[in-house]
Amino acid sequence: MSPTDGKFRKEVKKLYYYISLIALGIILVMAGALYLALSTGKTIFDEPGETKEIQLLDENIDQIVNGVHVATGFKEGKGLMEVIQNCTNCHSAALVTQNKMTREGWLATIRWMQETQNLWNLGKNEETILNYLSSNYAPEKKGRRNKLDEIDWYNLENP
Ligand code: HEC
Repeated sequence: MSPTDGKFRKEVKKLYYYISLIALGIILVMAGALYLALSTGKTIFDEPGETKEIQLLDENIDQIVNGVHVATGFKEGKGLMEVIQNCTNCHSAALVTQNKMTREGWLATIRWMQETQNLWNLGKNEETILNYLSSNYAPEKKGRRNKLDEIDWYNLENP
């Protein structure tokens, strides 16, 4: 073995040492990132503020402002949740809120949807839903002028 051999071995050992150090460093950084991701639910790939927005939406989804359910536009009242759960699956809530009907009218609409649009049987919720609709979306009492009565009709004279 020549003296240069020994020197070469030393160099190789040194190189191994540095490579191991770098590898250890990388492992530590990755472990740290993994720990952060697991403990906070955030990763460096997340857009800042992203999770916050979603939380805000979740909180506001059932918010009622001035007696109106913000997400759907339905009026606040007993049965609101049953109506939201059964009447917003196929069409927008606006299709419901823009209508005014008597209880019979609402029932007929529901039956029509059940017969032709695959609306399911509402079960015991039907009563609650009908009560809600007929009290919150009823025809206005005086939608048009009263019919004329007590009029003194007179006969036209022949000229
Ligand atoms: C299974 C699907 C489905 C569900 C659930 C549903 N509807 Fe409908 N509804 C329809 C379809 C389809 C139409 C017709 C839509 C159109 O004409 O664009 C409709 C139309 C309507 C209309 C308009 C009727 C008209 O004469 O123009 C009203 C009012 C209505 N639905 C109220 C309700 C109410 C109240 C509920 C909850 C009890 C409800 N819908 C649940 C499918 C559904």
